[in-house]
Amino acid sequence: MWGPEGLDEAEAGLLGPPGELRGRDVLEIGAGAAQCARWLAGRGARPVALDISHRQLQHALRIGGTFPLVCADAAALPFADGSFDLACSAYGALPFVADPRLVLREVRRVLRPGGRLVFSVTHPIRWAFPDEPGPEGLSVSASYFDRTPYVEQDEEGRAVYVEHHRTLGDRVRDVVASGFRLVDLVEPEWPAWNTSEWGGWSPLRGRLIPGTAVFVCERD
Ligand SMILES: C[S@@+](CC[C@H](N)C(=O)[O-])C[C@H]1O[C@@H](n2cnc3c(N)ncnc32)[C@H](O)[C@@H]1O
Repeated sequence: MWGPEGLDEAEAGLLGPPGELRGRDVLEIGAGAAQCARWLAGRGARPVALDISHRQLQHALRIGGTFPLVCADAAALPFADGSFDLACSAYGALPFVADPRLVLREVRRVLRPGGRLVFSVTHPIRWAFPDEPGPEGLSVSASYFDRTPYVEQDEEGRAVYVEHHRTLGDRVRDVVASGFRLVDLVEPEWPAWNTSEWGGWSPLRGRLIPGTAVFVCERD
């Protein structure tokens, strides 16, 4: 699943035809509980699920799977050059790092020539709207161009959650400057069957403004 809209890789085929995933080495970045790696393993691929959070990987371990789990920063990947055919990330790592080019260059390094990276992030337009599922989430309340990160702090003033905003143009430039060719930019539409609300995502907002941007990139 690429995002809360429910775009399914089995239908979208952004990593290539699902029938051709067998035997492919795939890196899942910011894997969380490794849902994507589990799906890929079920199609005969050889995934590796990577996350910076040990806790998230414990959830992945609890749910199960036969693929490796790696606890590491996506900006310093512990793999040799050209180790993977494909890389994917559903809302993983990239929205949470100050310099996404560090991650993208690392992913490029570990991909084989012609390798594909597909990653999804919150659609940048959402930055300008309150993160509310109802009508209050439909009025612009902040500048789309303000790149000041969103930060939550604990009682001691330590940052416990940080999200970085990039405009759509910033993301395209990040991809290209990191040595990728942008093959497609998918903005999934909210499907009629999806009636669920999750955080700021809802059918009401989903029908009017995009919530997810999926970047399909190939190593130059
Ligand atoms: C919103 S969750 C997405 C998890 C999963 N991909 C999914 O679809 O449910 C973001 C994940 O990115 C991970 N993450 C954040 N910064 C990272 C970094 N620098 N390197 C690797 N993983 C990171 C977080 O620990 C978290 O598990």
